[in-house]
Amino acid sequence: MSEALLELRNLHVEADGAPILRGVDLTVNEGEVHALMGPNGAGKSTLANVIMGHPGYNVTQGDIFLKGENIASWTPDQRARAGIFLAFQYPEAISGVSVVQFLRQAIAARKGLSELSVLEVRLDLIEWMDRLGMDPAFAERHLNDGFSGGERKRNEVLQMALLEPALALLDETDSGLDIDALRIVARGVRTVRDENPQMGVVVVTHYVKLLEEIEPDQVHILVDGIIVHSGGADLAQIIEHEGYDAWRPVSL
Ligand SMILES: Nc1ncnc2c1ncn2[C@@H]1O[C@H](COP(=O)(O)OP(=O)(O)O)[C@@H](O)[C@H]1O
Ligand SMILES: [Mg+2]
Repeated sequence: MSEALLELRNLHVEADGAPILRGVDLTVNEGEVHALMGPNGAGKSTLANVIMGHPGYNVTQGDIFLKGENIASWTPDQRARAGIFLAFQYPEAISGVSVVQFLRQAIAARKGLSELSVLEVRLDLIEWMDRLGMDPAFAERHLNDGFSGGERKRNEVLQMALLEPALALLDETDSGLDIDALRIVARGVRTVRDENPQMGVVVVTHYVKLLEEIEPDQVHILVDGIIVHSGGADLAQIIEHEGYDAWRPVSL
């Protein structure tokens, strides 16, 4: 059998001395989509951030493997170059930086280059915006300057499409996203996977509607820093009806 794309083994993580993840095991193979669900504060964003190498979190036990290599000591930059992608969600507008300028920098960083030709990026961008049904004028908008929820999602999907990640981590943290914004993500994931079937995806969400459209291979429920249950796409439906209470550890 070939190596897993991502393997978390008994991962324990702390922030500010407080334990957040308490022994997570997760295996994502190439081409698979995994959904991570769970109540607020369960540690979902922490998991995504730790895989990306966010310095605010300490791995106190366990290992993270990417294609069989232990990446626990790698910097976020090294992980990005190895193909791990976590959408950048800037809360503030970055004044004067357009979507296309930002993408150019991000792609250069991913490929370990200092510069990329504007033309090359534009051609890719035009092609992807067409595939994703986006208005080309979007590329000239200033990053997050008055972006709607849907436009922030478009930017995220464009990053994912152009960076060609091996592993895409999508943390759908925004509450109050409307259904159109979720559809942009779902359609974007499907379109990018059509072009890049090897890509693995971990999508963090509590939106069952999103999962209905993405059709994950596996759904995991994270409660209090532990994956308490894993199953197929139908698990999302069960959660929609019953909530997370059934899976809360009795001792807590
Ligand atoms: N950088 C941090 N420093 C201290 N505590 C944190 C940090 N990040 C997250 N936490 C805490 O860890 C828990 C899990 O947070 P988070 O991963 O954001 O959960 P989720 O995404 O599932 O809502 C929360 O109690 C949160 O307050
Ligand atoms: Mg979160």
